Amino acid sequence: MRNIAILASGTGTNAENIIKYFSNKNTAKVSLVLSNKRQAQVLKRAEANNIRTVFFEHKEFYITGEVIRYLLLYKIDFIVLAGFLWLVPENIIEQYNGRIINIHPALLPAYGGKGMYGEAVHKAVIANQDKESGITIHYVNKLYDQGDIIFQTRCKVDPAETPDSLAEKVHALEYMHYPKIIEGLVEKLPDLIIKSPDEA
Ligand code: GRF
Repeated sequence: MRNIAILASGTGTNAENIIKYFSNKNTAKVSLVLSNKRQAQVLKRAEANNIRTVFFEHKEFYITGEVIRYLLLYKIDFIVLAGFLWLVPENIIEQYNGRIINIHPALLPAYGGKGMYGEAVHKAVIANQDKESGITIHYVNKLYDQGDIIFQTRCKVDPAETPDSLAEKVHALEYMHYPKIIEGLVEKLPDLIIKSPDEA
């Protein structure tokens, strides 16, 4: 059984969908949900589903290494970002090389980068009169939205589309595909080799 951790900053509908998907699987489960926002709805959703939660501050992520210690303590094999708004620090990227993925609510490399999340993405797609949008699932590296792409799928942008209606279409694609992509990757994971927890 592989252990998945979810990092999220916001509402957490994807997180909850992933938690539920894995709740009756014997290959993997969501063991930990971590957030950099104390009041984030995602923490409440995780608690309601009996998942252990962790709130962390900036320095615990980037400087003192608390977050990587939690990940190792709870034997996390794979990290899923679901609406997480900070860059992942190098020590976690190195320890979890090839084991951290993100979902982006557009067709990368378009509409990516710092500040491109949520409504801003959908507004930009509509302002450019794009005929299509979609989702991108990609590996996470040191830069925003630039890791290798694992999966993309598209939806139509109608002439009367609003940011809200597009967000709804994109969320539907996310709910349909993200858990299955995670499952496919997690099934093939070798055991995690812990590099140097003391230096983490
Ligand atoms: C999703 O649309 C995802 O693409 C992006 O952040 C959003 C999170 O939504 N990375 P939710 O909190 O899961 O509802």
